[in-house]
Amino acid sequence: MGKMADIDEMMYSCGLEILHPGGIEKTDEMARMCKIGSGKKVLDIGSGKGLTACYLAQKYECEVVGVDLSERMIEYARKLAKKKGLDDRVSFRRADAHNLPFEDESFDIVLAECTTVLLDKKKAFSEFLRVTKPGGYIGDLEMIWQKTPPDELVDKVYDVWEGFRTMTLEEWKEFFERIGMVDVKTVDFSETIPDMEEAMKKELGLKGMIKMGCKLLLRSDLRKAMSEYREIFKEYSDYIGYGYVVGRKR
Ligand SMILES: C[S@@+](CC[C@H](N)C(=O)[O-])C[C@H]1O[C@@H](n2cnc3c(N)ncnc32)[C@H](O)[C@@H]1O
Repeated sequence: MGKMADIDEMMYSCGLEILHPGGIEKTDEMARMCKIGSGKKVLDIGSGKGLTACYLAQKYECEVVGVDLSERMIEYARKLAKKKGLDDRVSFRRADAHNLPFEDESFDIVLAECTTVLLDKKKAFSEFLRVTKPGGYIGDLEMIWQKTPPDELVDKVYDVWEGFRTMTLEEWKEFFERIGMVDVKTVDFSETIPDMEEAMKKELGLKGMIKMGCKLLLRSDLRKAMSEYREIFKEYSDYIGYGYVVGRKR
């Protein structure tokens, strides 16, 4: 995995529990829009440290399977489920979202947070649809473009964020409809996060920030990657937004 995975890993190890904008509050909103509830079978794509999976299983008494490409993330997540006493209905599996190791129509809900922007969307969503039961829901919470970005920005984030590609919420909606989803709804919550860096600092707290500073001191590659990462947020803040899209499989 590349430098973005290293940054994710560093942020997690400095105390971030969740790596998507809006935190668990927006996860909850999106999951409710996907009609989450007791007994439902949920798949969390790019499950990271496992917080979303554990939160949903605990709150809604559903069964959650998380998949992530990173073995280390899977380890973190399994430990969390065990610590919370949820390992009877929360499990994690190392898998590539482009090639899911599940039977057709095995989940009521497929969720992804801050992950599909890094994937081949056509391939990944065809897998998400394959494993979703008819009438089931797919929800995706991502960084979005608030308005059509200049090519220079699209190329820059593709390069710096290693293959990152997002869309405006209207384009996400069109994409969901094009792949056959119905009742597609979108929510833009960009205004709740005026400054992503500030939001991250707040979540990390002083201890986490000091820890991150120490790690960055030791790793010049991460220092460079972080500074490029921040530069994009500063320079192009007018274009960067956050939202989610939910649709139902026929
Ligand atoms: C930005 S993190 C988000 C993690 C989590 N969803 C959260 O909100 O905290 C992206 C996650 O996607 C995982 N990932 C990246 N490419 C993947 C792929 N092809 N298949 C499965 N997981 C992937 C990474 O390992 C990482 O844990």
